[in-house]
Amino acid sequence: MSTTDSSPWWRGAVIYQVYPRSFADDNGDGVGDIAGIRSRLDHLSALGVDAIWFSPWYPSPMADAGYDVSDYRDIDPVFGTLREAEELIGEAHAKGLRVIIDLVPNHCSDAHPWFQAALASPDAPERELFWFRPGRGPDGAGKPTDWVSPLNGDTWTRTTNPDGTPGEWYLHLFAPQQPDFNWDHPRVRAEFEDILRFWLDRGVDGIRIDSAAMLAKDPTLPEMSPDGPNPFVDLDAVHDIYRSWRRITDSYPGERALIGEVWLPDQQRFANYLRPDELHAAFNFDFLGCAWDPAALRACIDATLAAHAPIGAPATWVLSNHDVTRHVTRYGREDTTFSFAAKREGVPSDLELGTRRARAAALLSLSLPGAAYVYQGEELGLWEVEDIPHELRQDPMYHRSGGVDPGRDGCRVPIPWSGETPPFGFSPDGATSAPWLPQPADWKDRTVRAQTGDERSMLELYREAIRIRRAEPGLGDGTMTWLPAPNGVLAYRRSPAFTCLVNLSTGPVPLPPHAERLLASGPLEDDLLPPDTAVWLRTAGPAGPETA
Ligand code: NOJ
Repeated sequence: MSTTDSSPWWRGAVIYQVYPRSFADDNGDGVGDIAGIRSRLDHLSALGVDAIWFSPWYPSPMADAGYDVSDYRDIDPVFGTLREAEELIGEAHAKGLRVIIDLVPNHCSDAHPWFQAALASPDAPERELFWFRPGRGPDGAGKPTDWVSPLNGDTWTRTTNPDGTPGEWYLHLFAPQQPDFNWDHPRVRAEFEDILRFWLDRGVDGIRIDSAAMLAKDPTLPEMSPDGPNPFVDLDAVHDIYRSWRRITDSYPGERALIGEVWLPDQQRFANYLRPDELHAAFNFDFLGCAWDPAALRACIDATLAAHAPIGAPATWVLSNHDVTRHVTRYGREDTTFSFAAKREGVPSDLELGTRRARAAALLSLSLPGAAYVYQGEELGLWEVEDIPHELRQDPMYHRSGGVDPGRDGCRVPIPWSGETPPFGFSPDGATSAPWLPQPADWKDRTVRAQTGDERSMLELYREAIRIRRAEPGLGDGTMTWLPAPNGVLAYRRSPAFTCLVNLSTGPVPLPPHAERLLASGPLEDDLLPPDTAVWLRTAGPAGPETA
């Protein structure tokens, strides 16, 4: 098992992110759905993951691909019905897979009934549930602050009064179709506690919390300043919310987990979310954005473990998700880091090199202490699709930047299952619509069917790595010890019997003698570990490679 018997599942799980729009389309409308997911659950069982996280599936006008929710207690018809979701949860459980849903508490959709009521009248009590403010200047034509959105562009939109005159402004940290809730209002808090219970009652094992550090705002709405605190990110008040949510999850049987999407540069502030009475885990975006560089990776791993240890929280290891450039593409570039500000779309990427590194990164992330995340398609070695025509792009991040920011469509392209041509089994034969984003013809070699049984494939590497992880008592939750290693090599032990080596140098390094090779991310050269290659070893005792 990846966790010891007494260790809660979320401390050492492999968690697979399903992006429902792009996983599997059962009804042939070109968009993935719950029936499609149910028909493909065996893929996840064969992969061996412990849990599935579903990106939002709620009713939504889809201004931000479902992160604009108009009803938190139902399922969008494009995906199916609540009944189907309940059946899916039951079927996943029957296969031993835990289920994590995605909750979006910072904002809703502008189609949400509360926001519609708020817009209907300046006197509506629902106004208090959002951030309505008069504009600046004598005629109120100036937006209340100059805050910039993570989705690019403004964060305020002016309303029109029922009599047609210009009205107040409302805050939306993301797109205008995503008004921010006022978390100082008890009705907002009570509503979300009830929504949590709604899904926990339906058996979900975990909640992924969207934009988790952004819920509380400074009510004086100060401008952002380089030296002052951010007025809407990581305010202390947010922690009370999670303490009350933790009391709710703790009141349920089983081990229900809260997992935060917390992007913060400061590891200490990040760790505050993981105190024992708050969230169980949070995504490690430092690791995701880290360069493929031995010193940077080692520093990141050390800083991660040092931040988590004092509070007893498990680390997480994340390489990709639905918001970032796929790591096969990132790792094939000269600059292998990720940041939203510099995505480097169009900068040449050596996909062969990127794939070799992604394979090594899989063995790295799956053998570090804590939980590991796999974003759908990562196990197939998919790369970022960078040539989506302008008119097919859907992401507001792209459109709101006037096309300057490539946005996130390139990592959201429907995944290939089988066949030689699009839709590669994503949609059934005879589908009425093409996949909602076009798939590259070259993905014919990356389908699940093409890779199954090919021991050199990315899919079989992930299957084998996860199988070993489940069988190895030293993997998953626990501790690690760095071993002496030549320059450019990461070497660590997870138990007396398990060692991982990752060669990030430019030349081959000797493998330790007498060690059993459990799994290598690429071909080994006799007793040498080539560059950009990782290996898992079973060792009888202390066994680092020979130091240079
Ligand atoms: C984070 C989500 O992962 C992203 O896809 C979304 O656009 C924003 N939060 C807003 O909900």
